[in-house]
Amino acid sequence: MTPLHVTPKPAHRIDAARVEAAYAAARAAYVARNPGSAAALDRARQVLPGGNTRSSLWSEPFPLCIESGAGCRIRDVDGHEYVDLLGEFTAGIFGHSSPVLARAVADAHARGINLSSHTPYEVALAERLCARFPSMDRVRFANSGTEANLMAVTAARRITGRDRIVVFNGGYHGGFLTFAGGGSPVNVPFDYACLPYNDIAAAEAEFTARGAEIACILVEPMLGAGGCIPGDPAFLQALRRLASAHGAYLIFDEVQTARMSLGGAQARLGIIPDMTTVGKFFGGGLAFGAFGGRAEIMDHFNPARPGALPHAGTFNNNSLTMAAGVAAIDTYLTADALEALYARGEALRATLTALFAARALPFRVTGMGAIMNIHPDSGLGRAGDQKLLALLHLTMQERGYYFAARGLMALSFAVGEAELAGFTAALEQGIGV
Ligand SMILES: Cc1ncc(COP(=O)(O)O)c(C=O)c1O
Repeated sequence: MTPLHVTPKPAHRIDAARVEAAYAAARAAYVARNPGSAAALDRARQVLPGGNTRSSLWSEPFPLCIESGAGCRIRDVDGHEYVDLLGEFTAGIFGHSSPVLARAVADAHARGINLSSHTPYEVALAERLCARFPSMDRVRFANSGTEANLMAVTAARRITGRDRIVVFNGGYHGGFLTFAGGGSPVNVPFDYACLPYNDIAAAEAEFTARGAEIACILVEPMLGAGGCIPGDPAFLQALRRLASAHGAYLIFDEVQTARMSLGGAQARLGIIPDMTTVGKFFGGGLAFGAFGGRAEIMDHFNPARPGALPHAGTFNNNSLTMAAGVAAIDTYLTADALEALYARGEALRATLTALFAARALPFRVTGMGAIMNIHPDSGLGRAGDQKLLALLHLTMQERGYYFAARGLMALSFAVGEAELAGFTAALEQGIGV
């Protein structure tokens, strides 16, 4: 990113009425501009509750219906084109329509799918994953990050013979393992201690009180869905120490952060968990999840062993995903490419921080590498903050930049300097408050 040259403006007070008026205008303009997306939702409502089958995609007044994508651009059903800064909530790291991945999937399909047995693809993917992650001697595949986390936690509970799990407020480990605001009504009914993230004293207190009951700590090295809050290295080190001291497993959920370096966030931090879960991009854009760890832990799943833990799944080793994952790793997810993407994200965050300060825009940005979250900072309380973020979201969408309504951005390899400069320039125009 080129450095920002702007004259600082003095901070000004955010006026609630102006935010409200600007939001109402942006919302009306959005509705007028997107009749095709509105109609698509109306149709979907007949057969999908609220027209939705993936809660995180909902946003007011209605989400866009995207009909296609190429490179770093997507196009909606009303014909508008956007720079895709969301990258499928971190999974779409390759950009859209990679010919390499398309060929890998087509080749695997041409060899015949649903072969009812092992194939050469799964070992090829497993070898590559185990070679990358310091914590992974052996790995098993699943169909989502949710499933991978569920299996890792279940394994820890069975192997240690303990029930309790330490998780963190704001942590997201999948649809049944969600800890924003302390928990979700559809969580699996485990015995959780949901502690504040980055709070060493709270973790120490929990282990002092209940250490003998704790099977595992499940933690993201950066809270992803929880707002891209990086884990303090001292906090993550303390979790490593507490788990070891009390005979519990430390599980790193690297479903998002695995892209922070060749060996994920764990390699960057120099912390080796007992188990690691991954997903998203390691399926080359197809549905994927995996959990792995030290050999003596994972070998509990060796089906030739008496009393082995079962782990079934028709599509655990499906050859399309396995082949796409191998091609993705060999072609795209290289050490150099991941380092460059990480640096690009760090530079963008520094630019945004400078821009928000220089233009007195009431936002801040947090994150790690190329995954980041813009947060509103209105001083108007929660409702005012939400309005302000919604205003930013609708305004930037109208200017051709697509990111999540909650402020999440995840750059793909396809997003270049020109697109980021355009985004920064569009932000510099402000949001009319
Ligand atoms: C950190 C983290 N863990 C787990 C998951 C769940 O993965 P999936 O959506 O593939 O079930 C996600 C998904 O966003 C995630 O961000």
